[in-house]
Amino acid sequence: MSELKQLEERIAGLKEGLRAVIVAHNYQRPEVQDIADFVGDSLELARRCTEVDAETIVFCGVRFMAETAVILNPERTVLLSEGSAGCPLADMITTGELRQWRERYPRAAVVCYVNSSAEIKAGSDICCTSANAAEVVNSLESDEILFVPDQNLGHYVSTQTTKKIILYPGFCYLHHRIQAEQLKRAMKRHPEARAIVHPECRPEVIALAEAALSTSQMLRHVKASPHKSFIIGTEEGLLHRLHLENPDRSFYLISDNQICIDMKRTTLQILAQTMELKQNTVTVPEEVRLKAREAVERMLAI
Ligand code: 13P
Ligand code: SF4
Repeated sequence: MSELKQLEERIAGLKEGLRAVIVAHNYQRPEVQDIADFVGDSLELARRCTEVDAETIVFCGVRFMAETAVILNPERTVLLSEGSAGCPLADMITTGELRQWRERYPRAAVVCYVNSSAEIKAGSDICCTSANAAEVVNSLESDEILFVPDQNLGHYVSTQTTKKIILYPGFCYLHHRIQAEQLKRAMKRHPEARAIVHPECRPEVIALAEAALSTSQMLRHVKASPHKSFIIGTEEGLLHRLHLENPDRSFYLISDNQICIDMKRTTLQILAQTMELKQNTVTVPEEVRLKAREAVERMLAI
């Protein structure tokens, strides 16, 4: 039996023993996506975690995503596939910084991108993901919004609303380093291709693209499109599902470094070890969880 097959069987056995469900983000390695029960974007994963009846949720992704699962499911055990997998964007705002910014803009409602810690969610009025950010902002009564921590998603939202958006200067290193010039060159190389990018990209990159979409919105967009080739402005892991679901279409990345190091920390080996040792249990202090849950549930209700 091949090493891969052996690992897959070991994980299947562990899953049964733990009465677990395995969920994975669209950026995970292909072989990790393949053994997951559900693969999706941040919004889909948050929703899916409220629907599972397993005892344990094994989360293949980064810490804030597993924390969201804990916030919504305190009665389940949530294991993060690789304990050190974080999100540098989420780490760009501390609770002290959020307090200072709130004091500076006392009239503003605080909208936090789901790529944030449980403490930041607890200190915000409502949460959003890249799939629903404009909808969330437009649902609020306040006409002044403090948007944290991603400046590019916040800027994109400002093009979809009449509200005043105050931007906090966080960014995702891999999306932020994609330059408009690189996208222009990719468009020249593949003149027939449509460019779709993540809203964590710079405004000038988004301006060149056909659409700014969450990872799962990209998958739906491609399926519904009459076009045959696409330039993809997000993490390379999404190409696995794009190819699987659209074998007749072509996909091109803008550069060769569209890689999220933390998303790639999870391998099948590490996942098996996490499940075997029941390690990397994610916890959130109860008073933080209750406040964060209000922000996440307000979003899910929209
Ligand atoms: P999605 O919600 O679009 O899957 O994005 C999550 C993320 O981390 C983007 O960098
Ligand atoms: Fe965070 Fe960027 Fe990785 Fe998404 S791609 S998890 S925003 S570092």
